[in-house]
Amino acid sequence: MATGLKLMRAIRVFEFGGPEVLKLQSDVAVPTPKDHQVLIKVHACGVNPVETYIRSGTHKIKPLLPYTPGSDVAGVIEAVGDNASTFKKGDRVFTTSTISGGYAEYALAADHTVYPLPEKLDFKQGAAIGIPYFTAYRALLHSARVKAGESVLVHGASGGVGLAVCQIARAYGLKVLGTAGTGEGQSIVLQNGAHEVFNHREHNYIDKIKKSVGEKGIDVIIEMLANVNLNNDLNLLSRGGRVIVVGSRGPIEINPRDTMTKESSIIGVALYSSTKEEFRQYAAALQAGMEIGWLKPVIGSQYSLEKVAQAHENIIHSSGATGKMILLLE
Ligand SMILES: NC(=O)c1ccc[n+]([C@@H]2O[C@H](COP(=O)([O-])OP(=O)(O)OC[C@H]3O[C@@H](n4cnc5c(N)ncnc54)[C@H](OP(=O)(O)O)[C@@H]3O)[C@@H](O)[C@H]2O)c1
Repeated sequence: MATGLKLMRAIRVFEFGGPEVLKLQSDVAVPTPKDHQVLIKVHACGVNPVETYIRSGTHKIKPLLPYTPGSDVAGVIEAVGDNASTFKKGDRVFTTSTISGGYAEYALAADHTVYPLPEKLDFKQGAAIGIPYFTAYRALLHSARVKAGESVLVHGASGGVGLAVCQIARAYGLKVLGTAGTGEGQSIVLQNGAHEVFNHREHNYIDKIKKSVGEKGIDVIIEMLANVNLNNDLNLLSRGGRVIVVGSRGPIEINPRDTMTKESSIIGVALYSSTKEEFRQYAAALQAGMEIGWLKPVIGSQYSLEKVAQAHENIIHSSGATGKMILLLE
């Protein structure tokens, strides 16, 4: 895979562990694209919580060591394999997956995981699309099967996935309620599709949501922290309501009876279970959102490759998200 001729800076993980195992190296060989692969000059790469779980060695996905983390890059096509006909050198693109890792100056990707990045979005925004928007779309359309006119609570709306859910849900005609943990996060949620916002750090915010939605309850809850909120979620749902578990970081006790009276459902979502065809469908819907203008990623904190360990620390112990966390390589 490596040419051995050209070298780049990249993060390498040689052992699973804490953020300190992320090592910046400046002598990593730039890979050569083969067959249906493309090589991308990376301008920005999204940082997703899952990359911290994988790095720690506790996730189901365990890459062979050493590896470079990162799936959501945005940049410019540098070279293409013999059978990668969709793209040419110089095209602006973003990805939902990489072969060689995105925390690097260059990344190799299979062409079916690469999508054109419209001129109206910059590279930072391109790096915020992959996992967050494809997960948000799957959670709402595939898992919750939302219908226009329904209500959705985005429980954890200020981060990468949450803001994507708010934008998509609003564009699809839902009544959108969101939560954030800071005033700044709350404003961003309101500016990105939510009709109403609540602060999940306030002790009585669940009562406020109940008061707002009344007896009927909420049709769909997209949940970013189920281990904290699932019990409350079940009590907020409407008859036939659905909780979609996007994020959870531990166990929680619930009373299964709470699902009986309202015949409600708890549905888990895993983006990596999507088929190639589903990725194609989601990409088509999201491309339309970029063209029309409702898909506008909001960038939160930005880090250089040198500060990647800090980024991994902060995405888990956040003082309050204000959009998507990214690494900048420009
Ligand atoms: N299932 C999948 O396929 C899939 C795909 C992508 C992501 N995920 C998971 O989804 C979760 C969110 O990912 P992300 O990329 O959006 O992360 P992120 O950008 O770090 O955002 C985290 C969000 O969680 C919110 N939050 C914090 N405390 C909360 C609480 N008590 N109740 C509700 N929300 C709370 C944060 O709000 P404040 O910071 O404002 O407090 C923020 O909006 C992560 O656990 C991630 O692993 C799963």
